Amino acid sequence: MSTATAEMKTQAPPANTYRPKGMLIGGKWVESASGARITIENPGKRTAVAEVPRAAEADVNAAVAAAEKAFPAWKNVVPRERGKILLKIAEVLEARSEEMARTIALETGNALRTQARGEAKLAADIFRYFGGLGSELKGETVPLGEHVLSYTRREPIGIVGAIIPWNAPVMLGALKIAPALCAGNVLVMKAAEDAPMAVLLMADICQEFLPPGVLNVLTGYGAECGGPLANHPKIRKLSFTGSTEVGKVIMRAAAERIVPVSLELGGKSPSIVYPDADEDWAVDGIINAMRFTRQSQSCTAGSRMFLHEDIFDSFLAKLEKKTTALKIGDPLDEASDIGTIINNKQYSKVCKYVQDGLDRSDAKLVFGGLPPKTGPLSEGYFTMPTVFADRSNDWRLAREEIFGPVLVAIRWSDEAEAIRMANDSHYGLAAYVWTHDIGKGLRAAHAIESGWVQVNQGGGQTPGMSYGGYKQSGLGREFSLEGMLDSFTQRKSVTVNLAV
Ligand code: NAI
Ligand code: MG
Repeated sequence: MSTATAEMKTQAPPANTYRPKGMLIGGKWVESASGARITIENPGKRTAVAEVPRAAEADVNAAVAAAEKAFPAWKNVVPRERGKILLKIAEVLEARSEEMARTIALETGNALRTQARGEAKLAADIFRYFGGLGSELKGETVPLGEHVLSYTRREPIGIVGAIIPWNAPVMLGALKIAPALCAGNVLVMKAAEDAPMAVLLMADICQEFLPPGVLNVLTGYGAECGGPLANHPKIRKLSFTGSTEVGKVIMRAAAERIVPVSLELGGKSPSIVYPDADEDWAVDGIINAMRFTRQSQSCTAGSRMFLHEDIFDSFLAKLEKKTTALKIGDPLDEASDIGTIINNKQYSKVCKYVQDGLDRSDAKLVFGGLPPKTGPLSEGYFTMPTVFADRSNDWRLAREEIFGPVLVAIRWSDEAEAIRMANDSHYGLAAYVWTHDIGKGLRAAHAIESGWVQVNQGGGQTPGMSYGGYKQSGLGREFSLEGMLDSFTQRKSVTVNLAV
């Protein structure tokens, strides 16, 4: 549940941020059937900044009914025309990207300059990418002989139920909306209770161009709103991004009705640094891969760093120098490199992990530690980039997804042992390899069990990549043409006897 409470101080909304008008059902802005609302908190100041409806089962039913009504006409819109609509949406997303970025920074605590602006622009790019793919929804002909015409069609699945998290809400929302709609589906999407405002802005932009009911966006809590959505009998496909724990709940709901499910879940991604990479570019890459400037609230954070023993101390010294030079502060301030953790629950969770590291005798704190208890940084959920050095990959901080800026550095000398430790995780989302020796780098990339390996860079996803997890990091791919085809269409074979 959201941490916002009635006693929380209210703050006037900062300039050029979006004001929610309700949630979007059937082309209308509505309150929840119960009238209940959720208070949205600015995690940089612990103040209330807005309210959104608190949707529950009745609202899910209304949204599914609106989507059902919209589906027959939408699926028959010529795919390229659907694509053109997405391209128009992309233009407005781009034009309003500063308002979008400021809204993201306000509600998530992600710094405007280093994070939120990039995310807002990426949302426009995602719509642009999928907007061009309408004609790629093509089928095949099957050579069954001269007297037979057999072909396949890529048909939409129907009403898609999507649930998204708060860490990059607009990017992750765009990744559901754009491919699902391009493929001719209709959507009921639940925004995360902690970060619904920018997603509602995206919905507001979309609904200017879409027929009513094609996209419905609900705001509500996990079990209370996401639960009925995942279990609704008319939802024909579930697409979820969030924790592995909730991913399992979604998959169980899908199993009950045999509906396809896409899951983009957690990670504990390894970074393997070879001895020849004890250089500034690799340190910058590690900072990027660890997503320190998003407080490491990223499923792809490279949070286990396997450092060769020959460079262990020198590399950590460089990392400390560069990381501690990053400025932590108000997410909306242009000067800030690093913002805040999303809410009090996640903040306490991150602090507990840091305390665990401090309490462990085998682990050595390299830099960082618990956040300050006084001063400007104590006003929000600010945490410090923190690195622990240890020999083991087997302790809690090296195994669990912390979703905060806590990096574990582990020493290695034997390459096979480094790769074994990298793979010793129930997650398998991303991985990073750092070396000038491209043969070594690629051999490691092929040996690592994860859906995405980057060699000598630590960037974020780009539309067009087939992105998704191995092992408990997920199921299915959504970021690409193949992702759209696999996740948001179903194939039908039509076989015609030409001999009559
Ligand atoms: P979460 O997985 O609980 O929330 C993600 C979304 O699922 C939200 O929209 C939430 O309302 C919804 N949800 C929660 N319970 C549900 C249920 N029973 N049925 C249907 N929908 C439900 O993530 P949370 O609690 O915000 O964060 C906890 C941890 O999850 C983090 O510390 C992090 O480790 C992980 N996480 C991973 C993300 C990723 O991108 N891989 C994103 C967010 C969280
Ligand atoms: Mg949860």
